[in-house]
Amino acid sequence: MTLEELAVQFTALRQEFAQASLSAQTAKELEAARVKYLGGKSAVTQAMKQIPAFPPEQRGAVGKLANEFKRDLETQFAERRQALESARIVSALDVTLPGRMVPQGRLHPITQTIDAILSLLVPMGFEIIEGPELELEYYNFDALNIPRDHPSRESFDTFFVDLPSPEPKRGRPLLRSHTSPVQIRVMQQRKPPLAIVVPGKVYRPDPLDPSHSFMFHQIEGLVVGERVAFTDLKGLLDRFLKTLFGAATKTRFRPHFFPFTEPSAEVDIACTSCGGKGCATCGRKGWLEIMGCGMVHPNVFKAVKYDPSRMQGFAFGMGVERMAMLRHGITDIRLFFENDLRFLEQF
Ligand code: DAH
Repeated sequence: MTLEELAVQFTALRQEFAQASLSAQTAKELEAARVKYLGGKSAVTQAMKQIPAFPPEQRGAVGKLANEFKRDLETQFAERRQALESARIVSALDVTLPGRMVPQGRLHPITQTIDAILSLLVPMGFEIIEGPELELEYYNFDALNIPRDHPSRESFDTFFVDLPSPEPKRGRPLLRSHTSPVQIRVMQQRKPPLAIVVPGKVYRPDPLDPSHSFMFHQIEGLVVGERVAFTDLKGLLDRFLKTLFGAATKTRFRPHFFPFTEPSAEVDIACTSCGGKGCATCGRKGWLEIMGCGMVHPNVFKAVKYDPSRMQGFAFGMGVERMAMLRHGITDIRLFFENDLRFLEQF
């Protein structure tokens, strides 16, 4: 066979193989075509074997021709195999099957409770403000009328932080023990009237038990203006608590003491477990203490250079974990921080 005859033969075989591979409908049929045109008994293998019989100056050209032919068929083969495989997968897909659910995360119950509380207060005109968790003594205590030697400072047992103070005149750095210092920061920067709510983390060195955690959340409220009365505070909180815990919720304001408000009160709601009869949840009292509040103390206004003879204000502060526990009937605060999905998935 001459080189020219070989070239003509290869061209014809290329076309044959193209037809055979296109009409192959299964991997098996395609493999049969591959064996026929590329296998041990195929024309190309025969041609390779014949190379020594060609005159030496033609051997290179024969080899080249045979290799091109092989490569060409192998490419065609691979493409057809790929096409058959894709067709097989598509025909195996059942588009009528229901979709697979992608597991979705959700907000932590504490975040949900903060959102629920803020979404009641924001429409009443409160603006949401946040403040630093790393505070200074001045904002956490002094400016709030809690002097250095005042015994009430002990009820805010505090985590002091071993860092140099950025403003030594304002005392040592600490982890804030309540959200009230944000009242001071906001009033220092703004002129009244103002109405703010402050959600955030607070820290106290309490040993962990069912009702104590060294970190928890509070929401603080502050309203300042020229004509703000205790009845405004009472009306607001009564409405707020009835919306959060249900229209039938009874509320009660009990005189109390906070250094930064005068007069001060603690707000109770009728026990959510027994409705006021007295049970284990409310310690047989029938009432649950739910937040602190009062009229802003004149000394607090003086600290932020507001005129106490013209300005009046009220403030309130509540614990978010406590609210969440009462809303959902949870009896151990530690559940919020253990990240047990069996607990978290219930919200
Ligand atoms: N800061 C208080 C605490 O952590 C809560 C509180 C009471 C905040 C009365 C107030 C308030 O704004 O008026 O126990």
